[in-house]
Amino acid sequence: MAKIQFPDGFHWGTATASYQIEGAWQEDGKGESIWDRFCHTSGKIKNGDTGDVACDHYHRYPEDVALMRELNLSSYRFSLAWPRIQPQGRGSANAKGIDFYSRLVDELLDAGIRPMVTLYHWDLPQALQDAGGWPNRDTAGRFADFAEIAVRALGDRVRQWLIFNEPKVFTVIGHRIGIHAPGMTERDPYWRSTHTVNLAQGQAFRAMKSCDAELEIGTAFNLSPCEAAADTDADRAAAQRWHHYVNGWFLEPTLRGRYPEEAFPDAPPFDVMGIEEGDLDAIRIPLDFIGINHYTRTFVRHAPEMEDLRALPGGPTAGQKVGPKTDFGWEVWPDSIYESIMQVTRDYDAPLIEITENGCSYGDGPNDQGAVDDGRREEFYKGALTSVARAIADGAKVRGYHAWSLMDNFEWAEGYDQRFGLIHVDFATQQRTLKRSGRWLAEVAANNGFDG
Ligand code: FCB
Repeated sequence: MAKIQFPDGFHWGTATASYQIEGAWQEDGKGESIWDRFCHTSGKIKNGDTGDVACDHYHRYPEDVALMRELNLSSYRFSLAWPRIQPQGRGSANAKGIDFYSRLVDELLDAGIRPMVTLYHWDLPQALQDAGGWPNRDTAGRFADFAEIAVRALGDRVRQWLIFNEPKVFTVIGHRIGIHAPGMTERDPYWRSTHTVNLAQGQAFRAMKSCDAELEIGTAFNLSPCEAAADTDADRAAAQRWHHYVNGWFLEPTLRGRYPEEAFPDAPPFDVMGIEEGDLDAIRIPLDFIGINHYTRTFVRHAPEMEDLRALPGGPTAGQKVGPKTDFGWEVWPDSIYESIMQVTRDYDAPLIEITENGCSYGDGPNDQGAVDDGRREEFYKGALTSVARAIADGAKVRGYHAWSLMDNFEWAEGYDQRFGLIHVDFATQQRTLKRSGRWLAEVAANNGFDG
């Protein structure tokens, strides 16, 4: 057994998001978010589930921070619910909303845990959606104002920030596929939403740095290596295009001030995006670190029926070696996180990296003795962490790893059906139970490594 060891000072953490855990959807002056509206619309979420109560973290955060301590964690990534802070998405801050996050940050610091804050993990104030949402260019300015309020309130204690969580996912799934809030599906507003989000990121970055130039600011990009579904030229070309689209649509404008036109076999959709002169310079920013959210690799097939990209995820077809599937149907393939880390390291001159999410869904619950024996999750983390260590040995500057997630929570369109936690949550009683995988990760964090 080889010893898998991580660099001194490596951060061991977990990640969560406001809507997925907080509950208290109407408390202390919080405004409605697009996820409140979406979940309260019948037929949108599996089993009619909502985040109204979720893990009730809004009230139980001291218990949850104590559990992080039991897990020996040194970092915790969580997000701010924008409508808790600006109920209508504009104007002055709601003191009670700020106060909640302030108390959470203090609780973390007292426990020796570094708070890492995501500004936007998908819960846009509904009032801004009513004004056009992300397809409306004005939303960028609203977001920059919110970023400044957040930094002024918490920046003295929170030094690591993430602007967006998975810009690729919330734009496409919320604005084109329509199974996430706000449930939009039209082509042109979708492409426009991606441009507003890029603009918003540039404006927020500058607003935050002008408050405090020493803040460390990143974004959590979802990255996935793309492979051809079948061993054909057409599928190989499609996989390349999909790679530029999935991995490049936000990273390229952010770090290089360009949209990856190589994602399109025909004309790119730039004409419908509302790009104005100077935008690409405004979007380009020197992020202090790159957050990587990674779950699995993607097989891609040539899809002539698919507008713009002529490619779609699908497959693999006969003959491919594949790994087992999690309960979400995502393939377990430990090499893929290595590939994503090395892609960023190669393409962008070895930037500082934090793994901001990585994890798996398995439904294991308490057995007769009350223990949660989720050996498959432990195996998943062993494989992934072995790959992260290999990437570090090969020159990647990874300084932290956040497991998704601290505890089972509201998994968007899937409701409470998919469980990603290191801690099991009984949603009827709110009882938390540390799973076997959580105990294992606590040992890893304590030893800064494990026997692989
Ligand atoms: C990511 C999201 C996160 C969670 C995991 C499973 O795409 O960022 O909120 O739902 O997937």
